[in-house]
Amino acid sequence: MKVSGESLAELTAPPLVPKPVGNREATKLIVNMEIVEKEGEMADGVTYLFWTFNGTVPGSFIRTRVGDEVEFHLKNHPDNKLPHNIDLHAVTGPGGGAASSFVAPGHEVVFSFKVINPGLYVYHCATAPVAMHIANGMYGLILVEPEGGLPPVDKEYYIMQGDFYTKGKNGEPGLQPFDMQKAVDEHPDYVVFNGKVGSLTGDNAIKANVGETVRLFVGNGGPNLVSSFHVIGEIFDNVHVEGGDLINKNVQTTLVPAGGAAIVDFKVEVPGTFVIVDHALTRTFNKGSLGMLTVAGDENKQIYSGKLTEGIYQPEGGTIQKMPGATAPPAPKAANMEERIALGKSVYAKTCLACHQDNGAGIANAFPPLAKSDYLNADAGRAIDVVLHGKQGEITVNGQKYNGVMPAQVLSDEEIANVLTYVYASWGNKQQEIKPAMVAAKRT
Ligand code: HEM
Ligand code: CU
Repeated sequence: MKVSGESLAELTAPPLVPKPVGNREATKLIVNMEIVEKEGEMADGVTYLFWTFNGTVPGSFIRTRVGDEVEFHLKNHPDNKLPHNIDLHAVTGPGGGAASSFVAPGHEVVFSFKVINPGLYVYHCATAPVAMHIANGMYGLILVEPEGGLPPVDKEYYIMQGDFYTKGKNGEPGLQPFDMQKAVDEHPDYVVFNGKVGSLTGDNAIKANVGETVRLFVGNGGPNLVSSFHVIGEIFDNVHVEGGDLINKNVQTTLVPAGGAAIVDFKVEVPGTFVIVDHALTRTFNKGSLGMLTVAGDENKQIYSGKLTEGIYQPEGGTIQKMPGATAPPAPKAANMEERIALGKSVYAKTCLACHQDNGAGIANAFPPLAKSDYLNADAGRAIDVVLHGKQGEITVNGQKYNGVMPAQVLSDEEIANVLTYVYASWGNKQQEIKPAMVAAKRT
């Protein structure tokens, strides 16, 4: 199939989707995507450092048609701390594009691919540790319409579920760091649609009018949970099972796998509020996966008597109950080396692990090892400097050259002392205690 012309892809933030492709010819489609690491609201009073494609969770919706040649421009904002990449499930090729799209902060990469299979596909960051990048919000949907487009409907929306793992329990106020252990245990504190509690409730509810047909493009970023997607008080007329060609009819609840999608449509016959849920209901009422579709128009007493009030469930648990007086405890002071190691381990998990990895082995050609590192063990003062002020330029660690950028770490003297003491006590390193005063002496 030859493509004709070239155009800039319309990209939309959730819950909106770009205009239908309809029966346009296959074309060269330019997609501009910027990775932005930014603090945002997770729930009332709770914030989180999200990693995003184009500033939203999920990232921008990309709408293509079969045969399009996509020229993908991926930029990593210079203020970001980490390198990232993108794996699009619509791509046929190694890593779904991940290998050719690895991009450091302040850089842009361009790669291209042809979309050859129609369907609704997930895209996500695939930089190690992948589950952590996904858990921080790095996912979205790309639609590949078949020849001639999808059947027209009146309203279309974009909804994507994700599970989030925070140090504090659900509702604990303040900026909540990512908790790797809870992610490994698959115990999320939040399960939400479109990146936060309440993204689709109240004034944010999606809307339709009686008699209209509504299509939902539903995705699941995970990283871990499978969604039992359901709209209370509606039956899906058509479900594109798992986002593919197979259409199932008259479906109550459809499974959306982690890293998968579904396209559902239904005609709304009566007015009211239709609650959108993951039917694993403690998630919905205790962790946030609750949205609303409000339908305006005239009653139809034959279809629904209207005796009950609007909304079948009152979403009591969907919003956050504040815990009064709960503030972050002051950073604990280590009394001895053992305590320092224990406290340093958690600083490591939050701060260093993303690059230097759980076992301190680093990542070949990108992040040097801290395990048995000759560079580290040769000079503790220099190691303190690296953590305090960051490091760039070529260095040699255990005979391998690295030429990357390590950002300065925003940590207290106590935290830096703890994390380096932990690192020195681990993975065959030389067992040296770093005291906060040694760190203080290096600050200028
Ligand atoms: C280098 C420690 C966080 C990326 C180093 C070195 C140390 C170190 C001791 C010197 C080389 C070696 O011994 O292997 C730490 C500690 C961290 C931390 C304790 C957390 C408090 C990070 C993060 C990143 C990162 C979050 C990624 C964004 C790098 C890079 C180098 C490096 C790229 C090599 C720099 C160059 O090529 O000049 N780190 N690091 N580090 N680190 Fe980190
Ligand atoms: Cu990433």
